[in-house]
Amino acid sequence: MQKYEKLEKIGEGTYGTVFKAKNKETQEIVALKRVRLDDDDEGVPSSALREICLLKELKHKNIVRLHDVLHSDRKLTLVFEYCDQDLKKYFDSCNGEIDPDVVKSFMYQLLRGLEFCHSHNVLHRDLKPQNLLINKNGELKLADFGLARAFGIPVRCYSAEVVTLWYRPPDVLFGAKLYTTSIDMWSAGCIFAELANAGRPLFPGNDVDDQLKRIFKLLGTPIEDTWPGITKLPEYRPYPIYQVTTPLVSVVPKLSVKGRDLLQRLLVCNPVLRMSAEESLQHIYFADLNPAIKN
Ligand SMILES: Nc1ncnc2c1ncn2[C@@H]1O[C@H](COP(=O)(O)OP(=O)(O)OP(=O)(O)O)[C@@H](O)[C@H]1O
Ligand SMILES: [Mg+2]
Repeated sequence: MQKYEKLEKIGEGTYGTVFKAKNKETQEIVALKRVRLDDDDEGVPSSALREICLLKELKHKNIVRLHDVLHSDRKLTLVFEYCDQDLKKYFDSCNGEIDPDVVKSFMYQLLRGLEFCHSHNVLHRDLKPQNLLINKNGELKLADFGLARAFGIPVRCYSAEVVTLWYRPPDVLFGAKLYTTSIDMWSAGCIFAELANAGRPLFPGNDVDDQLKRIFKLLGTPIEDTWPGITKLPEYRPYPIYQVTTPLVSVVPKLSVKGRDLLQRLLVCNPVLRMSAEESLQHIYFADLNPAIKN
């Protein structure tokens, strides 16, 4: 820890506090994340440590680099690459207008980061705008990959705020325990719509029930025919059969036809039918993406 000079507190999240800091030897600016675990007296579980150390090998330009893991005094500090701001703050600063090319660029980078992690069998499970970091030069990087698996997703954040449900897919809301890459693809769809609407969240539910109702009102209520096995999920409850009456175009009016097609393929209730990151990168919506971003 002596290697770093703490500069200022950046934020507080599910697992602890984040500080901006400077590496005294290299002058490099980093983000220090002090992880607090429920059971601090027990020290850091070895399973969590093993998981975290694996994440140091996850190196990609659209993933926030984990430079170092400091473990001392039963405390854990993660040293991350520093980014200028997160997507939530970006939304707050963009006055309700995001250029369609920026939406496309951010979405492509988000999916490319996801594709890399998924191909290395790492899931995020808690994607949301606060976990997408952006740099002044328009780069987007996914933060906190793999932490959910290492530490679990608590119901409340360290700051006692409730963990947001807005980006959770219906299978997880119904208590599905088999976690697959499709979880992140749903979240990516929700974030896509939010990007297209310059920061207006797609499904801002208040609780699990409200969250599911909002989803089903837009996409239709899934049934055994459209989603075999749905009624067997641990926390399944029947919902009214909502008819789809709102076309996607009125939900994301600024998104092109091709963009809406991609969104529709991500927002599929049945996780088996949801588009993968690899497939989505090939979607025609990205055909005219600036080559500088593609490479
Ligand atoms: N590497 C980083 N560079 C710059 N800012 C960061 C970095 N990591 C996190 N932050 C900022 O600190 C805030 C808190 O981070 P943290 O990850 O602890 O919480 P969160 O993203 O809100 O929720 P969660 O803990 O569920 O990921 C973030 O929202 C982000 O604004
Ligand atoms: Mg985070």
